[in-house]
Amino acid sequence: MTTANPTLFDRLEEIRKEALQNLSQAADLRALDEVRVRYLGRKGSIKALQKSLGTLTAEERPKAGAAVNELHNEVEGEIDKKKKILEKEALGRRLTEERLDITLPGRAEPAGVPHPISLLIDEITSIFSRMGYDIYTHREIETDYYNFEALNFPPDHPARDMQDTFFVGEDLLLRSHTSNAQIHYMENHKPPLRVVVPGRCYRCDAVDATHLPLFHQVEGLLVGKNISMAHLKWTLETFLKDLFGAETKIRLRPSFFPFTEPSAEVDLLRKTKDGKEEWLEMLGAGLVDPNVLLACNIDPEEWSGFAFGVGIERLAMVRYGITDIRMLYDNDVRFLEQFRGQGAT
Ligand code: FA5
Repeated sequence: MTTANPTLFDRLEEIRKEALQNLSQAADLRALDEVRVRYLGRKGSIKALQKSLGTLTAEERPKAGAAVNELHNEVEGEIDKKKKILEKEALGRRLTEERLDITLPGRAEPAGVPHPISLLIDEITSIFSRMGYDIYTHREIETDYYNFEALNFPPDHPARDMQDTFFVGEDLLLRSHTSNAQIHYMENHKPPLRVVVPGRCYRCDAVDATHLPLFHQVEGLLVGKNISMAHLKWTLETFLKDLFGAETKIRLRPSFFPFTEPSAEVDLLRKTKDGKEEWLEMLGAGLVDPNVLLACNIDPEEWSGFAFGVGIERLAMVRYGITDIRMLYDNDVRFLEQFRGQGAT
């Protein structure tokens, strides 16, 4: 080392010490980068030394230049080493801090449950499809013709009052029963035929423990040769026994519907909580009125049939021991939770 430029070499030594000390104190990658900028950056102290070489004599310059480069390389090398150490430390810290504790209990996502009405519709349609019935759905906004007229309700007949519904236009109403689908189905399918139709119905009924303005029915229709009340009774008995158990008893009471003749209300015998027995009205049924067949271009001399319409909410009340029909639509999770795990889903 020459004494020609003692200040530069002193300064160089000073910078080396200071840089190495700063480096050893850099505790993280950000601090390390600050050190790099301070010494190697464009305005850094080593750069300043390089620039000052121009002020030296030609004789002094090569040695001094080599010394400055050596310092530059040394600091750069130390920074690289320290960077690797700090990166390794940072990774180690992340691995411990962000470690997954797989022993913690999982966060359960609350899954929905099938509604009891959907459960029953699935069950009923599957019972009838095992008996060879087609499953069919049709529209809920209907014309007077399909909801009443083709079903043999003459205009102004009092039977219409029993099914007072909501009108949405001059000749458009919300269907009051699924029987409208009988007509649509028979317009498009020729006998022999058998079909069940699940779906929503609407009525201007006052809401109480057994009535809702929106409820569900499943309609059944069979047309064949020489169909009698015996076929109807056997079918309903088989269906209700499948649903409620082999001990189930039913009875048919004479009734009136314009689209069946004869007509019946079908009751189910139920045991109450205090051990008593009571008959509950479940559905309406009967032999298809010849006028209905005629409306669908089916010859009543050749074909005959039976039909029935069952209220699903009423079935659900008996099946699940529900005392008030409104509970089905209160949307109370405690009520609905009881149906978890039931049905095919
Ligand atoms: C009818 O709706 C006929 N279409 C049934 C029918 C079909 C008869 C085919 C003959 C041949 P009814 O108005 O009785 O009949 O209703 C049938 C069932 O729907 C009732 O037994 C009851 O279970 C249910 N139901 C009727 N109104 C309501 C209501 N407001 N809320 C809940 N369920 C109801």
